[in-house]
Amino acid sequence: MTGLPIDPPPRLLMGPGPVNADPRVLRAMSAQLVGQYDPVMTGYMTETMALYRAVFRTANEATLLVDGTSRAGIEAALVSLLEPGDRVLVPVFGRFGHLLREIAERCGAEVHVREVPWGTVFTARELEEAVAAVRPKLVAIVHGDTSTTLAQPLDELGAICARHGALLYADVTASLGGNPVEVDAWGVDVATAGLQKCLGGPSGSAPVTLSPAAVAVLDGRRSIEAGLRDDRDEEVLPASRIRSNYLDLAMILDYWGERRLNHHTEATTMLYGARECARILLEEGLDAAVDRHRRHGAAMAAGLRGLGLTLFGDQSVRMANVVGVEIPDGVDGEGVRGTFLRDYGIEIGTSFGPLHGRIWRVGTMGHNARRDAVLTTLVALEDVLRRAGVAVPTGGGVAGALGSYTQEAA
Ligand SMILES: Cc1ncc(COP(=O)(O)O)c(C=O)c1O
Repeated sequence: MTGLPIDPPPRLLMGPGPVNADPRVLRAMSAQLVGQYDPVMTGYMTETMALYRAVFRTANEATLLVDGTSRAGIEAALVSLLEPGDRVLVPVFGRFGHLLREIAERCGAEVHVREVPWGTVFTARELEEAVAAVRPKLVAIVHGDTSTTLAQPLDELGAICARHGALLYADVTASLGGNPVEVDAWGVDVATAGLQKCLGGPSGSAPVTLSPAAVAVLDGRRSIEAGLRDDRDEEVLPASRIRSNYLDLAMILDYWGERRLNHHTEATTMLYGARECARILLEEGLDAAVDRHRRHGAAMAAGLRGLGLTLFGDQSVRMANVVGVEIPDGVDGEGVRGTFLRDYGIEIGTSFGPLHGRIWRVGTMGHNARRDAVLTTLVALEDVLRRAGVAVPTGGGVAGALGSYTQEAA
């Protein structure tokens, strides 16, 4: 049995990501392979580094892709920076903060956690007090935590970390390209991302950027595999060798850098996709893309309100690209999602842990941050909610969204 060829049904992915890939990205990914050290391939790698410098708004030389999903980027950053016993501060305001904590613990770090209730974020003052008390080597924080749909303002945290001698790591997986992300202006030392949210690509490649200060930490832990060393290289191992080979960012930098020291075989097709995601974003213009996400996200939020639904969390710090909405009392949230997918081919998300079954998450991101996608989702949701017994105002969703668009245009 060889099964049938892959032929997925048409879907409109309006959840927290992944979303439908931009057709240009899929076309780029269907291109033929070239060899790992073909000058065409190394040329694409160098171009991709430059493109992602612009996407992250950074001058960091060390800007590259880690092959793997966003989680691989996070793990590469933390395992490469953290030695056993290093103090780390992890402010947690949702599920992905807990992921940072877990990975830092697995690195053997001494992890200090601060938490605020889901649906809120930290004030700059709370963050500064925590940094002053813990005196960490690294502060690791999520920017946009899709589990709660909120974005932690980071514009003051870099300066706070600098004042206290800490490095700042930020997970911008879900925010990059659809919300302002200013790696250099905010003083973020290391940021990692993924393609499957506002960048409009598939998951499987993690853009990463590292400041010179972060690279200096990696340099202290650099090693070269025995079979690759030549006369220039000493045989000594660093006191604290990075505990993963695959995710060793010092080695990965040596592969992407001038020496092109062999490490993994770069995932060519994912690189084609990542490069195209960045090209699409930069052709539109980063500010224009962020503004598009803001407009369509606001229209979706207004439409959901127009259906009589209650939005989840502090709306003043909501991510532009995803909105949480409380599941009305007595409604089977999973049943509604199932009907939505079966009858309309539209996917929305639920959430995790304490929010599972309590909220739906509706995304407007990447290629799907579009007026027709917003209006189609709201029309369909009105029908499915009514069939689930919710008293929804007729036409309330579309009217809310159109009102938001009109206000924008005025
Ligand atoms: C903020 C954040 N971090 C990390 C991840 C993990 O990404 P991946 O599933 O690509 O490993 C996600 C995925 O939803 C996310 O939203």
